[in-house]
Amino acid sequence: MAETAYAKGLEGVVAAESAISLIDGKAGKLSYRGYAIEDLARHSDFEEVTYLLLYERLPARGQLEAFRRSMRQGRDLSAPVLDMVRSFPPGAHPMELLQSVMAYLSGYVEHRIQHSALCNCRQTLHQVAQIATTVAAFKRLRAGESYVPPRPDLSHGANFLYMLRGAEPEAYEGEIMDKCLVIHAEHGFNASTFTARVVASTLSTCYSSISAAMGALYGSLHGGANEQVMTMVDEIGRKENAAAWVNRALDDKKKVIGMGHREYKVKDPRANILERYLVEISEKKGDSRYYEILKEVERAFRARMETAGKPIYPNVDFFSGAVYSLLGIPKQLFTPVFAMARVSGWLAHVLEQRVDNRIYRPESLYTGPEPLTYIPVEERV
Ligand SMILES: CC(C)(COP(=O)(O)OP(=O)(O)OC[C@H]1O[C@@H](n2cnc3c(N)ncnc32)[C@H](O)[C@@H]1OP(=O)(O)O)[C@@H](O)C(=O)NCCC(=O)NCCS
Repeated sequence: MAETAYAKGLEGVVAAESAISLIDGKAGKLSYRGYAIEDLARHSDFEEVTYLLLYERLPARGQLEAFRRSMRQGRDLSAPVLDMVRSFPPGAHPMELLQSVMAYLSGYVEHRIQHSALCNCRQTLHQVAQIATTVAAFKRLRAGESYVPPRPDLSHGANFLYMLRGAEPEAYEGEIMDKCLVIHAEHGFNASTFTARVVASTLSTCYSSISAAMGALYGSLHGGANEQVMTMVDEIGRKENAAAWVNRALDDKKKVIGMGHREYKVKDPRANILERYLVEISEKKGDSRYYEILKEVERAFRARMETAGKPIYPNVDFFSGAVYSLLGIPKQLFTPVFAMARVSGWLAHVLEQRVDNRIYRPESLYTGPEPLTYIPVEERV
């Protein structure tokens, strides 16, 4: 067989051009459409960042207000979608529900989807607006509580907490939730974004692209690491136990979840931002147990990595689970919350894919048998 080079997991393969986000793994920098993530987290909000991702520039005031209005108008769930949330199998994971709701909405919208760069999704904003409502409805209906309709006067993040709790969150909680969505909105050609683009490249609907991307995000190697970080924190229990726990895990050749990243060779810039949010929320709630445990884990892990000469630092998932937990979000909703944010990036990639489309069709290296002679079933032993 001829030797053909291939890259397992497509590592190092440049599959497209993209103007949406830039990751500088050595310097620990991330930007959306040229704007540093730190500036967006400081000055912007999720709705404005969604506009930036979809329209390639920051909106003027009037554009932002019109965009906010239309996104907020699209938040409420229609009766058929609510029925779907109610009747979904009791043991289902919310990511399975989200994937199905997305596919369902594709058939439910009155206007048909245009297979073009100017897709209707920029106008309907169903995907971006309704994921948060679906996630909150899932949590409440499963708990035997009533559906809380969205409020148009709250930011996307604050409204999510409101729909989840049935009570308005403190202003700082709403703001932190919204900023968490900002910093998770986009991150280059990761598995779910690539999935969205592959589906878009076949000229399928943007709803199908988002539904497929959700399926990719659902996997434990992609979304879900922050859930595992909180399982670790619960297992450690007290900061005094952290160093021994880390050393034992590393001695057993286990990975410490929330550490390391394929792209970043320094601390993930989003982890720095999330750490500040965790400090703030811990102070406000008078509960710094999670933060203290995580800092001990970070310290013990760094000491071991320095000895081993490995540049491995906290990634975005290291602090986010603790922030969500202090906001009262149950662990099962962490990946859906990730989807709520990342959908803006997925849509931007779907639109970009369509501008200069070519269907994705890589090749594989055949490792099956040489040609065989077909034997009729009567003659097979
Ligand atoms: C994110 C991740 C998959 C990146 O992986 P990668 O760039 O392919 O790096 P590898 O998994 O090949 O690891 C390279 C080396 O660093 C070590 N390493 C990487 N992450 C580690 C971690 N979290 N804990 C302990 N060791 C780690 C590996 O054991 C390996 O060591 P070796 O060379 O001695 O075998 C990896 O760091 C990881 O599994 N992290 C934990 C899961 C996680 O937090 N995922 C969320 C990512 S946002």
